Amino acid sequence: MSEIYQIAIDGPSGSGKSTLAKGVAKALNIMYLDTGAMYRTCGLAAIKKGIPFKDEQKVAELMNSMKLEIKFVDGKQLMILDGIDVTDSIRTPEVSIAASDISSLAVVRTKMVDMQREISKAQTFVLDGRDIASKVLPNAKYKFFLTASSSKRAERRLAELNSKGDFSQTYEEVLRDIEYRDKQDSSRANAPLIKVDEAVEICTDNINIEETLNTLLSYIDKSDIGA
Ligand code: DC
Repeated sequence: MSEIYQIAIDGPSGSGKSTLAKGVAKALNIMYLDTGAMYRTCGLAAIKKGIPFKDEQKVAELMNSMKLEIKFVDGKQLMILDGIDVTDSIRTPEVSIAASDISSLAVVRTKMVDMQREISKAQTFVLDGRDIASKVLPNAKYKFFLTASSSKRAERRLAELNSKGDFSQTYEEVLRDIEYRDKQDSSRANAPLIKVDEAVEICTDNINIEETLNTLLSYIDKSDIGA
């Protein structure tokens, strides 16, 4: 039986983490866990119940009462909240901010981190997020940290929203949201976004996804690629 290992890809919003993680999962034929989707689902749950995102007491009650399930179907990660498939509805700008706000609370992080560790221990996984290498899986075999300028990341995020038919935000609004989330995700007391010393840092400003993917794969042991 081949070894079970994990790959951590951390970085700020719009740095290309999810596209790359999907590419890595495909190239290595391993599972992919998008941890941001989990915090997004918590954010959506709070929106649905009208709970202020930073009200610790009410959010703690929400964490106990909500039912969050993750299903992997044909390589796609489905997020199920209280029995309803919310995979697509967690991708709005409103949920992005809610996710950033709610993810600063320890009561939320503890629950999500436990789930992430449980899911990724049984099979080889690539996980993307903010704290995968620093907190969730400090023993991950491979660790990457992606960066890109906020303007480049805002361009990408806007293109992604537009490609889904969402034209609700201007470039300036997307940039403002990215800068708000950068500041909050990096400065919070609980597991902020940081690069661990041993992570390979890749700036995606001037290289395209295919090149970045090849760079990333070049760090992976050939026997893990099956070559
Ligand atoms: O990766 P994303 O944009 O889908 O993440 C949404 C928010 O969730 C992000 O602003 C911060 C939070 N998050 C986190 O705190 N830790 C993670 N491992 C992943 C996401």
